[in-house]
Amino acid sequence: MNDPAASGASAKSRTLRQRVRTITTKAAAKLQEGALGKLARAKVRHKLLTVVPDRLTGGALRRAHLLRAPELREVCLSVPGWPAAFDGVRIAHLSDLHVGDLMPVRHVVALARRLRATRPDLLVCTGDVVDLHVNGEQPLAPALQAVGEIGAALGAFLVLGNHDHLDDPAEVIRLAHRAGFAVVEGRVHCVQPPGSAAAGEADLRIGGVEWASTIRQNQMNVQALCVGREAPHLLLAHNPKAFRGAARRGIPLTLAGHTHGGQVRLAPAARASRRGHSRDGDSHLYVTTGVGAWFPLRVNCPSEVAMITVRCA
Ligand SMILES: [Fe+2]
Repeated sequence: MNDPAASGASAKSRTLRQRVRTITTKAAAKLQEGALGKLARAKVRHKLLTVVPDRLTGGALRRAHLLRAPELREVCLSVPGWPAAFDGVRIAHLSDLHVGDLMPVRHVVALARRLRATRPDLLVCTGDVVDLHVNGEQPLAPALQAVGEIGAALGAFLVLGNHDHLDDPAEVIRLAHRAGFAVVEGRVHCVQPPGSAAAGEADLRIGGVEWASTIRQNQMNVQALCVGREAPHLLLAHNPKAFRGAARRGIPLTLAGHTHGGQVRLAPAARASRRGHSRDGDSHLYVTTGVGAWFPLRVNCPSEVAMITVRCA
């Protein structure tokens, strides 16, 4: 005798397998064509590495991913060359929000509320605020607005990441400005100490480098940032590869993201360039594991916002 419930379930599973096979075959074919633009290739990767695995697990991957709220990781760094007037400054370092399928606006709003309660002095975002599509006013505008409203006393600063360049980087910059961020790519912004009436020696100089994938291009970008002006004390970079150039220039502190810490950490120690704190001489680097992801799996590598207290060494 046939069990109708069992045969219904098996037909459902057969249909799911067929749909997954169709998506995978089409996506692989498009990738092989090699003629796709960066956004189209990212969309194909999204289907292959996010949509398909999620459907194969009946949505469990995405649900588990969304359940975990980012940690607020306290970090204290003693940094030579840090301006004395900013000794003890608390920086909320966010990166890699990847607003989109895996980072709904309501999660960003909840995170922003937690961060507002910690009252950071400075808020910095090191790129990949959006995952794929900017989509006009939704969902990026309300997400950036919520982050901008954290209200750090010394200001909010941002550089773009590779994902921000996929669809409409000019729109990302426009929305970031509207949310109160200073976008510091290719420039240096001076922050005056609290209570100071005019720009001067005691200022904190915050610079940003544009996204680049190679060490060489990052070095050139850092060099261009420093030509004709004093080097920044704090460098914001999406790619940690900018640190090589920053250390050569004697920049005291670089904050970066991009790696997501590797997301899946099976070995006990990760490479210093992938996550956490490292140094080269007197120059320090902190690479955050980031808030979001483009692939819904993290193993021994929780998402985070780094709450960094910087002391003068
Ligand atoms: Fe990212």
